Amino acid sequence: MMLLEVNGLKKAFGSRKAVDGASFTVRRGEVFGLLGPNGAGKSTTISLICGVLKANSGEVVVDGFHVDIDGANAKRLIGIVPQEPALYPTLSAKANLRFWGTVNGVPADELEDAVNHVLQVVGLADRADEKVAKYSGGMKRRLNIAAGLIHSPKLLIMDEPTVGIDPQSRNHILETVKTLKDKDITVIYTSHYVEEVEYLCDRVAIMDDGKIITEGTIPELLEQGNQFQELTIRVDAIPDGIEKVIQALPHVEEFSVQNEQLKILTSNAEKVLPSAFAEIIALGATVSEIKIEKPNLESLFLTLTGKALRD
Ligand SMILES: Nc1ncnc2c1ncn2[C@@H]1O[C@H](COP(=O)(O)OP(=O)(O)OP(=O)(O)O)[C@@H](O)[C@H]1O
Ligand SMILES: [Mg+2]
Repeated sequence: MMLLEVNGLKKAFGSRKAVDGASFTVRRGEVFGLLGPNGAGKSTTISLICGVLKANSGEVVVDGFHVDIDGANAKRLIGIVPQEPALYPTLSAKANLRFWGTVNGVPADELEDAVNHVLQVVGLADRADEKVAKYSGGMKRRLNIAAGLIHSPKLLIMDEPTVGIDPQSRNHILETVKTLKDKDITVIYTSHYVEEVEYLCDRVAIMDDGKIITEGTIPELLEQGNQFQELTIRVDAIPDGIEKVIQALPHVEEFSVQNEQLKILTSNAEKVLPSAFAEIIALGATVSEIKIEKPNLESLFLTLTGKALRD
C-alpha cells in the first residue's frame, strides 16, 4: 500500500530544471532512500512534497491527499527534518520543541508528553533544559529530528541528517531511524552516503539532474549494474607466470598486476579466492593482504551515469 505517490514532478528556477519529471512511490512502513549527488534535486523534491514550494507540473499524493488540493491534510501527515537545522539557539531544547509542537498543531494538553517522548526517542532527555546554543552539531541534528517527530507524523522526511557531524551522533541517528520503523513511521531518507542508504533503506530511488534514474530494493538495483566483484591480493613479489595460471581459473573475467597487487575481476570471489591462493603459493610467493569489493550503489551510480556520486 502506497503512502506517497510522486508523479511527473517538475520545478524550474529560471532556466535551471531542479526537478525534471521525477516519479516514485513510497510504501507504508518502509525506509525509502533518495540517493543523489550535490545538486541532484533532492531538497527541491522534498520542498515540493511538503508544499513549501509549488511545482510547475506533476502531482504529489500523501495517503490519498493531493498536496495541491488538500494541502493542510497532507501536511499534517508529514514531518520534516530539514538539511539546515531550524532551531532557536537562545531557547532550551524543550522550548524549541514546544514551539514546533504548537506550530504543527499538537493540542496544548498533549504538548508536554509529546515533547518528553521525542526527547526520549533521540536520546536528549538529560540535556533538555539546556540552551540549544550550547549543543554540539550532532545534538542539534538530533533535536532537529525530534522537532520533525513532535506531531506524530506518518511520514518523516529527513534531508541529509548526518552531514558534517561526529561518528557517535551519526550512529545515534542511524539507530534512531531503525527504531522509527517499529513505530509505524514511514521514512524518506535523503543522502549522498551510499553506506547509510545501504544500511537503512528497504527501497531506494537514485536521483541525478532532477530525474529519478532508477528505483527498487537494493538487490534489485544492484542487478542493473556491473555484477563483478573485485578481488585484490597483495603479494611480497609478483611470481613469474602468475598471469597465465590466474587467467585460466574458472570465473576469472579480468586479471591485472598493479605494483605488488594482483587484481581479479570475478563473478564468484568465493570460488576464485582459494584456487588463486593455491596457485600463488605454488609459485613461491607470500600473500600479505586480501580485499574483496562487492558491487554497491556507488558502482551502480557510476555505471548508470558515468560519474561518481561524490567528488
Ligand atoms: N531557490 C533556488 N533558486 C535557484 N536555484 C535553486 C534553488 N534551490 C535549488 N536550486 C538549484 O536546483 C538544483 C537542485 O538543488 P537541490 O538543493 O534540490 O539539490 P540537492 O540534491 O538537495 O543537493 P545537495 O545534496 O547539495 O543538498 C541545484 O542546481 C540548485 O542550485
Ligand atoms: Mg539538498
